[in-house]
Amino acid sequence: MTSPTALVTGAGRGIGRAIAVRLSQQGHRVALTARSADQLAAVAADCPGETLVIPADITDADSAHRIFAAVEDALGPVDVLVLNAGSATSAPLPRVTDADWSAQLDVNLTAPFRCLRRAIPSMKERGFGRIVAVASMASKIGEPYIAAYTAAKHGLLGLVRSAAAELASTGVTVNAVCPGYVDTSMTAASIAAITDKTGRSPEAARAFLDAKQPIGRLITPEEVTDAIMLCVNNSGITGQGINVDGGTVQS
Ligand SMILES: NC(=O)c1ccc[n+]([C@@H]2O[C@H](COP(=O)([O-])OP(=O)(O)OC[C@H]3O[C@@H](n4cnc5c(N)ncnc54)[C@H](OP(=O)(O)O)[C@@H]3O)[C@@H](O)[C@H]2O)c1
Repeated sequence: MTSPTALVTGAGRGIGRAIAVRLSQQGHRVALTARSADQLAAVAADCPGETLVIPADITDADSAHRIFAAVEDALGPVDVLVLNAGSATSAPLPRVTDADWSAQLDVNLTAPFRCLRRAIPSMKERGFGRIVAVASMASKIGEPYIAAYTAAKHGLLGLVRSAAAELASTGVTVNAVCPGYVDTSMTAASIAAITDKTGRSPEAARAFLDAKQPIGRLITPEEVTDAIMLCVNNSGITGQGINVDGGTVQS
C-alpha cells in the first residue's frame, strides 16, 4: 500500500515544521509549502521520508490550485491537509487600516478556504480525508489589539465547523486546533512588539505571555502537533476546535 500524502502549509518553521516532521516520521509523504524556500529545504532535510518542497505565497489567488497540482503530479492526491500558514499583526482598532484588515483575512481565512475547497472533491471521491486547521484561542475569545487576527481566526473555526457538517457522511473529517501562545517565531515577534510598545524588558514581556496560560508557560509546537495527530488518527472526531492553550479557554 502506498504511503498517505500530506500537505502542510506554513511548513518552514514553528508549528508547521513540527507537524511536517511528525507526519513524515509516521509514514506520510509530505509536501511542504511556505514562501521561504531555504526554510522549507531545512525542514525537508529533517523529514525521514519522501518530501516535496513547493515555495509559494499562499495568499496568491491561484496558489491553492498550483500547490495542489504540484502535489498531485509528484505524490498523488492529498489525504491529509494541515492548514497552518498564518500571521498576526497587532494594533488598536482605530489604527487598523483597510490594508491590514484585508491582509489578515487573506492569509488566515481566505487562503485556508481556497485550499480546503480545492482538497474536498478528491477526498470525497476517495471516501477519505483529514483536514486540520491551525486556528487559535483567538477563534474563541476576543483579546485587545488583535481584532483583525481574531476576526479571521473566528471565521476559520466557522469554516471548519460548516465544512465538517457538510462532509460528515463522506469519510472526510475537518477539525481545528486552537493553541494559546506557542513558543515559535510568531510569539517572539509578539514579545518584540510588547517590548517596543511598552518599554518592558524582553524577559518581562515573555513572562507576561507565559502568564496568559494558566499553566504558566508557553505551549510547545510538539503539544500542538499531538492534537493535530489526534485529528488525523481518529475518524470519530470532526467539527471540533480543540484547545491546546494551557487552560485559557474552558470550552
Ligand atoms: N505562535 C502562536 O502563539 C500561535 C498561537 C495560536 C495560533 N497560531 C497559529 O499557528 C500557525 C503557525 O504559527 P507559528 O507560530 O508556527 O508561526 P511562524 O513560526 O511564524 O510560522 C508561520 C509559517 O507560515 C508561513 N506563512 C506565513 N505567511 C505566509 C504566506 N503568505 N504564504 C505562505 N506561507 C506563509 C511562514 O513561512 P514564510 O514566512 O516563509 O512564508 C511560516 O512557515 C498560524 O496559523 C498561527 O496563526 C500560532
